[in-house]
Amino acid sequence: MSDQRVVITDESSGKSLELPVIKGTEGEPTLQIKALPSTLGYFTYDPGFTATASCTSKITFIDGGKGILRYRGYPIEQLSEKSNFLEVAFLLLTGELPTSAETEDFEEDITYHTMIHEKLNTFISGFHYDAHPMAMMAGVVGSLAAFYHDKLDMENPAHRLLAAKRMIAKMPTIAAACYRHHMGWPTAYPKNSLNYTERFLDMMFSVPAEKYEVSPVAAKAFDLLFILHADHEQNASTSTVRLVGSTGANPYASVAAGISALWGPAHGGANEAVLNMLDEIGDISRVGLFVDKAKDKNDPFRLMGFGHRVYKNYDPRASIIRAAAYEVLEELGASDPLMDLAMELERIALEDEYFVTKKLYPNVDFYSGIIYKALGIPRSMFTVMFAIARTVGWVSQWLEQEETPTPIGRPRQVYDGQPARDYVSVESR
Ligand code: ACO
Repeated sequence: MSDQRVVITDESSGKSLELPVIKGTEGEPTLQIKALPSTLGYFTYDPGFTATASCTSKITFIDGGKGILRYRGYPIEQLSEKSNFLEVAFLLLTGELPTSAETEDFEEDITYHTMIHEKLNTFISGFHYDAHPMAMMAGVVGSLAAFYHDKLDMENPAHRLLAAKRMIAKMPTIAAACYRHHMGWPTAYPKNSLNYTERFLDMMFSVPAEKYEVSPVAAKAFDLLFILHADHEQNASTSTVRLVGSTGANPYASVAAGISALWGPAHGGANEAVLNMLDEIGDISRVGLFVDKAKDKNDPFRLMGFGHRVYKNYDPRASIIRAAAYEVLEELGASDPLMDLAMELERIALEDEYFVTKKLYPNVDFYSGIIYKALGIPRSMFTVMFAIARTVGWVSQWLEQEETPTPIGRPRQVYDGQPARDYVSVESR
C-alpha cells in the first residue's frame, strides 16, 4: 500500500470515497476498491478481468508494453540461456535459485516421485483409444486426489509442498501414459537415471522391441520449451487453479481444473490450433487470403498464435522460441514447409495495418507447435506439453495463495435478466 489516494465522487449523492493505491515493486499502480460497495453502493464491472488484479504475487512479473517477462525477478532471456527446467521449478516454488546442495536434493525429491500408482494405469486404460489427451489429463490428474490423499493435511506446509512436488514429478509420467494408451503401446516406467526431459522422452517414445536413445537435441529443446511455459502470472488456467484452490479444494482437483482451462484454443490449445490453421492455409500463395479473413469482422476466423491479453509488444518467449525453432530444424536436418508458411504469415501480418494498430504479434504458441512437430510429438499432445511445464506455475501460485490468507474467489455480476414475476402454470403459458 502507498500513501497515494484516488478520490472518487458520486455526483448523484455527492458522496466521496478515498481509494488507497497499491503499488507493487513494479507494474501499474492499482486501486483498492474493496470499500466501494459498502461506502458508495457500487460494484465494478470488468468482464474478462481486463483491468482487475485478483491477487498480489511475488512469482512472475510481466510488462506487456515493454515485452518483459521475469520469474522471481530473473529475466526469461537469462533463465532460458543459463538455467534448466528443474532449477527454474525450484526458483518458482521457493523464490530463490538453488545452491548446489539444494539442486541435488530437489532433483532427488522430484525423481523419487516420478512413478504413478499402478491402478492409475488401469484408470487410463479405461479411456477410449482416441480420447483427446487433454481430456485424459484433466481426468487422471483430478483422480490423483483419490490416490494420494495420504499426507495431505492442507494446513501443513510440508504436506502442501509434497503435493506440489508430486505433481511436477508425475505429470510427464501421466502424459506419456496417455500417449501410449492412444498408441496401444505397453506401459513405460520412468527411468530415474535420466534427467527430467530425457526421462519424459524415453517414456514417450521407447518401445520394448527396439533400443531407444534420447536425442540430446530433443532433450535440450524440451528443457527450453518447459522453461518458457513454466509460469505466466494470472493467466486463465492459473487464475482457475487459484479460484478452485480458494474454496479449500484439494490441489490435485485445482490443477485438473487448470488443465481444463488450458485446453481452450484461446489459451494453451492455441499451439495445436496454429498447426491446424497452417494446414488449412496450405500454401504460401493463400496467406493473404487468410490474413484478410482474420481482419473480416463478419468472419469468426482468427490468426491462431497471434495476439495476447497482456503483451502489446512482442512476446519475449516468442523471440526465444522462434530462434530455437530454426536451430532445432537445422540440428535435426529437418525442413518443414509449415515453417516457411509460418514465416510468411508472420511477415505479412507484422506489416499489416490491422495487426500493427491492434498490436497483434506472434505469441509463444505460434512457434512451439513447429518445434514439437519436428521432435515427433503428435499434434493432439502439444497442449499436454504446455501442461507439463505450466504445472510448475500452477503449484507455485497455489502454494503462494495457501500461504496468504485469501477469501474464496467469488465475483459479482450485473443481472440483466427478467425482473421479479409470478409463476405461470403450464396450462396458461
Ligand atoms: N486474429 C485476428 N484478430 C485478432 C486476433 C487474432 N489472433 N486477436 C485479437 N484480434 C482482434 C480482435 O478481433 C479485437 O478486435 P476489435 O478491437 O476490432 O474488436 C482486438 O484484436 C482485441 O482482441 P481481444 O479478443 O479483445 O483481445 P483479448 O486480450 O481479449 O484476447 C487472445 C487475447 C485471446 C489471445 C486473442 O488475441 C486470440 O484469440 N488470439 C488467438 C489465440 C491464441 O493465439 N491464443 C494463445 C494466447 S497465448 C497463451 O495462452 C499461451
